[in-house]
Amino acid sequence: MTEKAIEIKNLDYSYPDGTEALCNINLDVFEGEFIGIIGPNGAGKSTLLLHLNGIFRGNGNSHIRIFDLDINDKNLAHIRSKVGLVFQDPDNQLFMPTVFDDVAFGPINMSLPKDGVEASVNDALEEVDMVSSIRRPSHHLSFGEKKRVSIATVLSMKPQILALDEPSSNLDPKHRRNLINFLQTLKLTTIIVTHDLDLVVQTCSRVALIDKGKIVAAGNTLDILRNKSLLETHDLEMPNSFF
Ligand SMILES: Nc1ncnc2c1ncn2[C@@H]1O[C@H](COP(=O)(O)OP(=O)(O)O)[C@@H](O)[C@H]1O
Ligand SMILES: [Mg+2]
Repeated sequence: MTEKAIEIKNLDYSYPDGTEALCNINLDVFEGEFIGIIGPNGAGKSTLLLHLNGIFRGNGNSHIRIFDLDINDKNLAHIRSKVGLVFQDPDNQLFMPTVFDDVAFGPINMSLPKDGVEASVNDALEEVDMVSSIRRPSHHLSFGEKKRVSIATVLSMKPQILALDEPSSNLDPKHRRNLINFLQTLKLTTIIVTHDLDLVVQTCSRVALIDKGKIVAAGNTLDILRNKSLLETHDLEMPNSFF
């Protein structure tokens, strides 16, 4: 049987101001699986992703395992080397003077040798078609370019799990298509938060629909995305490719 890559049990999370963002989330993701997390604005999708490498910790009985490791203080560095998280906002991901430095940050921290770092950076930038910007300041890039570099900052660490928050937002059609092609060749366990339901159809075998902090439906991608009334109840629309 395939190994569980992510196990989420009874995950509750409230922000310090009292906003209840997640309520009793239970979800298993299996090794090599691609799962889409969909839902309206404010559903809790980004909050959920931020739990996967321990940036947030659930309240009370919440429990998350990554492969055979519980997320706790002791395992945090190890967990973060396994789970590559691409934030919704690239300005939260990019903080170094140049694109190279941003993409090299992870490999350098994992103490790869210098030529290993350069190779990882190049390979990662190649995947997102940003090699030609390697010496540019990250803050000069457009939002879509920053988004692509953000993905590279995570790929360069060669994670076992990829968690992407709205990876296609602001990408032009060519680079959105490249992203989909790239995702289709990936062998990693991948969890994708997105409003781009066509991207979900083309990459994810399973979907979880979240609203108001709860999973309201989970199952086979086509079963969920063909359910017009379910989608409309949660402020979503069927993918364009279905028409
Ligand atoms: N830092 C924060 N402090 C308080 N509430 C927050 C914070 N960030 C997000 N929220 C709230 O938590 C809920 C879930 O937000 P989020 O996970 O960003 O939703 P989504 O990614 O699905 O759009 C929303 O009600 C949002 O307003
Ligand atoms: Mg979000």
